[in-house]
Amino acid sequence: MERTKQKSETSRQTLSKTAQSKTAASKSAKPQSKSPPTASKPPRSQTRTASTQPKTDAFALLKDDHKKVKKLYKEFEGLKDREDSDEKKIELVKQLCQEVTIHAQIEEEIFYPAARQALGDEDTLDEADIEHASVKALVSQLERMEPRDNHFDAIVKVLYEYVDHHVQEEEGTMFPMIKKAKVDTKSLGEQIMRRKEQLMVDMEAPAPERKRSVPSEEGARSAHR
Ligand SMILES: [Fe+2]
Ligand SMILES: [Fe+2]
Repeated sequence: MERTKQKSETSRQTLSKTAQSKTAASKSAKPQSKSPPTASKPPRSQTRTASTQPKTDAFALLKDDHKKVKKLYKEFEGLKDREDSDEKKIELVKQLCQEVTIHAQIEEEIFYPAARQALGDEDTLDEADIEHASVKALVSQLERMEPRDNHFDAIVKVLYEYVDHHVQEEEGTMFPMIKKAKVDTKSLGEQIMRRKEQLMVDMEAPAPERKRSVPSEEGARSAHR
């Protein structure tokens, strides 16, 4: 059912018009709470755990992105039904869309090709391609909308549900297969970090000056041992 729109010219502000995402991102990030001291508990062993994985590891970097998207969505969800939350919703959804877009591009340019090289034509990779396409279609829709538009909240919710399902497939199925295939995820992680920096710069440039940077030729070819 059509929802009544109460748009005034002064308050209308689409996602695409809110440009200062970089500062918004840093401002909205909550400071991390301090972990309780653990010094009194001596480690049982020196075995490396997931939390001590080097930050250049592709799995760790991609999982960090996944967590970031979840955190942004949960923050958005907390604003549900709040009358004065339009500005904050715009900011959060813009960040969410940027994170999802850059993450998907990095996977498509670097991570998935390396995975295909290692695993061959796996169903899980084909499905991931289709899931990315669905997510990107919703992102594109949201980028032309504002919070008072019909179905805005519903589209954000469905976008997150798609992303959440996709993340479960990646972390639960795809990553273990890639790990088993002994892909050099440290080398991939270094490529991912460099490409992400490029894409962030591209995305923050004013639209008329924005140019698509070209991914490194090095690509994923060197990642598979
Ligand atoms: Fe993905
Ligand atoms: Fe991912």
